[in-house]
Amino acid sequence: MAKRSIDKAKAAKKDEFYTQLEDINNELRHYREHFRGKTVLCNCDDPRISNFFTYFAYNFEFLGLKKLITTCYKNQDMDFFSQNKSEQAVFLVYEGDKNGNSIPDAEEIGVKPLKGDGDFRSKECIELLKEADIVVTNPPFSLFREYMAQLMEYGKKFLIIGNQNNATYKEIFPLIKENKIWLGYKSGDMSFRVPANSEERATRFWIDTNGQKWRSLGNICWYTNLDIPKRHENLILYKSYTPEEYPRYINYDAIEVSKTELIPCDYDGVMGVPITFMDKYNPDQFEIIGIGNGGELGVECGVSANLTAEQCAALFREDKSFRKGKLCYRNDKGKLVGCYARILIRKRA
Ligand SMILES: C[S@@+](CC[C@H](N)C(=O)[O-])C[C@H]1O[C@@H](n2cnc3c(N)ncnc32)[C@H](O)[C@@H]1O
Repeated sequence: MAKRSIDKAKAAKKDEFYTQLEDINNELRHYREHFRGKTVLCNCDDPRISNFFTYFAYNFEFLGLKKLITTCYKNQDMDFFSQNKSEQAVFLVYEGDKNGNSIPDAEEIGVKPLKGDGDFRSKECIELLKEADIVVTNPPFSLFREYMAQLMEYGKKFLIIGNQNNATYKEIFPLIKENKIWLGYKSGDMSFRVPANSEERATRFWIDTNGQKWRSLGNICWYTNLDIPKRHENLILYKSYTPEEYPRYINYDAIEVSKTELIPCDYDGVMGVPITFMDKYNPDQFEIIGIGNGGELGVECGVSANLTAEQCAALFREDKSFRKGKLCYRNDKGKLVGCYARILIRKRA
């Protein structure tokens, strides 16, 4: 196989994580009022496998949906997934139970072949996207940036699964900072069915009594632009600021807060908090200023080193990672401590 095909196949393999109905149900129950009279698109979903299809088909009348469309991808390089995957890219349109006598099932509703491979970026899939009011799915992890960019370009409402680290991508973080997108309810551990030929792994992998392989990922979250009550709930702050407990960064005018729950209630300046803060972010309570050590971002989103070139060079000699714009402080023993990605925030008055 040519290198490009192998790389594509590897990426595609990483993308085959099937979401559990329970996880979909637990998240979607917070968004019910958004769906009345709406057309929903699940565009990375084989209706014969996807629990997103199952959820919306079962709850079609309950949610008052207008239409459900699902499209599925046939990766030409991934024939070895055929136990789980479609041989043909297909789509399905469901407009509600017409005879009232059965729970809808993909075969009964009738899937239709797509002309191309069902890539969400293809012309025919974009035509279906244009029809949709809300897009709900777990898109391919390897194409998260492109997927989000397309949703933004077409101005769609959405609720999609991603990784918490996606929030630090240079294309994604500004959307969060500008309050165009935010995190949904569930964040953290989530388990997914994976294809039968998935490689076994030492951790976060198991095979159930039916022989189904599973993987769990520890940093999964939902991204959305649908308004939810959680986004307006204040984080309860109980800690008081002391200079000893909250060291000041050497290379940015802010204090280090190592855990979101330790944000002091009486500090009005800029604070660096872990990216898990996103899960608790209420834009009425806090303002996001930028991101420090956000991999691709660092300096661009507001971290400016208020140090001379000589001071920077000395820091770099002490700790090579300093150059990447890593926020750092000196601990009580004078040792330089570099922080993992930090969101820079300030309490609103
Ligand atoms: C993380 S899995 C989730 C599957 C399903 N949405 C679910 O939650 O069970 C992502 C799916 O996107 C499909 N996919 C990969 N590349 C795609 C593309 N370019 N366009 C549409 N779907 C794609 C993969 O085949 C895979 O089934």
